Amino acid sequence: MEKNNNTISRRRFLAVSGAVAGASILDPKSKIYARTSSDAQANQSKQKVALVGTGVRGVAMWGSHLIRDYLDQIDFVGLSDINPGRLEVGKEIIGTSCPTYTDFEKMMRETKPDTLIVTTDDDTHDYFIKRGMELGANIICEKPMAIDEKKIQTIIDAEKRTGKDCRVTFNYRYSPHRAKMWEILRSGEIGDLTSVDFHWYLDISHGASYFRRWHRLMEKGGSLWVHKASHHFDLLNWWIESDPESVYALGDLEFYGKNGPFRAENCRNCPHTKKCNFYWDIMKSERDKRLYVDNEKYDGYLRDGCVFKNDINIYDKMAATIKYKNGVQVAYSLTTYSPYEGYRVSFNGTKGKMDAWIQESNPTTDANYDEVVVSKNFGKREYFHFTQSGGHGGGDKILKDQIFIPNTSDPLKQAAGVRDGALACLVGIAARKSIQSNEPVMIKDLTTIIPQTKKEYKGI
Ligand SMILES: NC(=O)c1ccc[n+]([C@@H]2O[C@H](COP(=O)([O-])OP(=O)(O)OC[C@H]3O[C@@H](n4cnc5c(N)ncnc54)[C@H](O)[C@@H]3O)[C@@H](O)[C@H]2O)c1
Repeated sequence: MEKNNNTISRRRFLAVSGAVAGASILDPKSKIYARTSSDAQANQSKQKVALVGTGVRGVAMWGSHLIRDYLDQIDFVGLSDINPGRLEVGKEIIGTSCPTYTDFEKMMRETKPDTLIVTTDDDTHDYFIKRGMELGANIICEKPMAIDEKKIQTIIDAEKRTGKDCRVTFNYRYSPHRAKMWEILRSGEIGDLTSVDFHWYLDISHGASYFRRWHRLMEKGGSLWVHKASHHFDLLNWWIESDPESVYALGDLEFYGKNGPFRAENCRNCPHTKKCNFYWDIMKSERDKRLYVDNEKYDGYLRDGCVFKNDINIYDKMAATIKYKNGVQVAYSLTTYSPYEGYRVSFNGTKGKMDAWIQESNPTTDANYDEVVVSKNFGKREYFHFTQSGGHGGGDKILKDQIFIPNTSDPLKQAAGVRDGALACLVGIAARKSIQSNEPVMIKDLTTIIPQTKKEYKGI
């Protein structure tokens, strides 16, 4: 690390990590992450890619952006969604001429993709991963991999049985400040890691968005313990480089849902818009109107649902104590109605500590704060600053480069497969169970995964 003579030194850290010099090429015949021997070989066999779930994540991150950036590596061969209207609008936004299917199995049989991208509602991921593998494809799946332990076991078994791969796209690992934290932890700067304090704040815009849609129902998204916090638990598992062993948790719903002063079905049909701070006019977004409002007639999916609906059954404040197999203990919390979006994380080690305070700017705050500080017990303090640009702190693009650009490596061990996807969800599932039982829950009791002291790395 760079040192200055001052007690407090500051320097700019360019938002480029060594994380992605290039990535593995998708090999249609075996594993999606296997490397080919040359670019020429890669060009001969473009990946045949199909996508299921043409909502906003599917059509942007895994649709139009792939067409824009990776056409030398991939061909879209099929798109599928249960909603025929959103499927056609999605195809137009993506900008492909490939066939569309409301029947997923038909798409798989007719197009025989090498790779299936899964961007459907969380409760359906397990089905598409399992059937995709059985029908011959390797999988790229959005987080969370699955919402309960039975669905996770189904995926573990399918991977073993079919020999296919599932890459879980934990884009949070790829933002430069989080990659820097991983590097500092591995460098030994703060000695042996003993505990972590990790507190995440979703603001009144982003946080509220989860209470408008299917995410508001435990049975659809597994609660924010799984839908959202699996991102955070994956970061912890990767940073700590050990497996979670036990979880004790608390949680409650005391802001959204039944706690609201009034309610309606959705914002467009609400008599309370003038007095509701959460009124959101979806019609201002042409994309959202076309994808969602125009296609409500097919499935009744309201993208602008009321955040005070009585059927909301997830928690809006959450806290957990997590013990890792290597002895590290974690204090974690998630708040969903904060005035600003961001997080604080503090890593406590035997020689010092590393703190990070990240605030994202949004329309209501001008904050944009991105700092990592390393303090030594008997030494100097160092500051690292970052510039955020692009989706999820720039992580979205770096992740896709690693997946699609030929011959890249994975020096920071950011690529995640089924085991990592499972363990991130299992912490949240254990937290849910712990709230119900008021007892700590052991991760080893949930699936066939046995937590290890040193995290397993599959490699790409
Ligand atoms: N990594 C990230 O930062 C990030 C960000 C946003 C979303 N996501 C994930 O991406 C996924 C999609 O999110 P979204 O915001 O686009 O949701 P969305 O509700 O807008 O879209 C989901 C789509 O899946 C379709 N679908 C649902 N069930 C289906 C079925 N049985 N068969 C076929 N299609 C079906 C829906 O009709 C819809 O078009 C979620 O799993 C979410 O967690 C990840």
